Amino acid sequence: MDQITPLLDRRNALYEPVSRLMTRADWERLYADDIEAILRLKQERDAVILAHNYQTPEIFHCVSDIRGDSLALAREAQNLDAKVIVLAGVHFMAETAKLMNPEKTVLIPDSRAGCSLAESITAENVRALKAAYPGVPVVTYVNSSVAVKAETDICCTSGNAKRVVESLGVPRVIMIPDEFLAKNIQNETGIEMLTWPGHCEVHERFTPQEIRQYRRMHPGVTVLAHPECPPEVVAEADYSGSTAGMMDFVAQKQPKKVLLVTECSMSDNLAAQHPETQFVRPCNLCPHMKRITLSAIRRSLETMEEEVTIPEDMFARARRAVERMLAV
Ligand code: 13P
Ligand code: SF4
Repeated sequence: MDQITPLLDRRNALYEPVSRLMTRADWERLYADDIEAILRLKQERDAVILAHNYQTPEIFHCVSDIRGDSLALAREAQNLDAKVIVLAGVHFMAETAKLMNPEKTVLIPDSRAGCSLAESITAENVRALKAAYPGVPVVTYVNSSVAVKAETDICCTSGNAKRVVESLGVPRVIMIPDEFLAKNIQNETGIEMLTWPGHCEVHERFTPQEIRQYRRMHPGVTVLAHPECPPEVVAEADYSGSTAGMMDFVAQKQPKKVLLVTECSMSDNLAAQHPETQFVRPCNLCPHMKRITLSAIRRSLETMEEEVTIPEDMFARARRAVERMLAV
């Protein structure tokens, strides 16, 4: 065999997962160099890339080692056999990975990748809530800072919020900072939620009118909504679940036509794997997730920046809240 053939085979294999989404020429022109460099750097640095489901397809399908929703990323972060973790996602996800791996280097390719929910509440706010409702357990969505987690009894994600809340066995909880997630879980469980007016800037923009209009335009469409959407939007959906829950739904039920009421890249990543399903795309972009690009990941692995650190005085308390969640 000549020497070119294995190289070509390798290149073909790298392109194949995204071949339904972009032309080979565009992939070569826009992404191939960075992808090759990242794969080489991962080996040199002994690094793994954890990618959230909202990452763009060239990151999600071409360079990441572990993909998933916030819960899967937190779980997988516990068992990694690598010196360096690159979190292709937003800052709170990188903080969670660091909480589970204090001895490893955790990099976030752009530390400005925040989250409107995490920014909506401070540790001071949580202390005030606890003082106002003594004895009521505090359940904190992982979309929060380490300082807020440190004030918390237990964390949750959209994938396990119902289970976490029910595990407490109480009639009333403080559930922060996502008001809509809390109300959606209240509707599912009947447990009273004391909420905080934090919202996801991506999901709060969807409206029930919009969903009804899409149903009129696409008769028979299956509607899946993230629980960060307002309850009136979730009420219009056929299913509501975390990003991983929505992905599993499509893989198992193989709907003919589906509308994902969530961030744009979810449909792209799923469309790459499910040619049998047609995706209607009324999506909203998360500007924070979109700060993470292939070139930012490459730069991060080249420079080993930006490293995520956790203040020592918060570490143990925040980690305990995440560990309690993972034990449920
Ligand atoms: P998931 O945990 O469902 O992936 O959601 C994380 C997130 O940021 C959604 O906006
Ligand atoms: Fe935060 Fe919403 Fe972006 Fe998720 S999609 S990271 S909840 S702003």
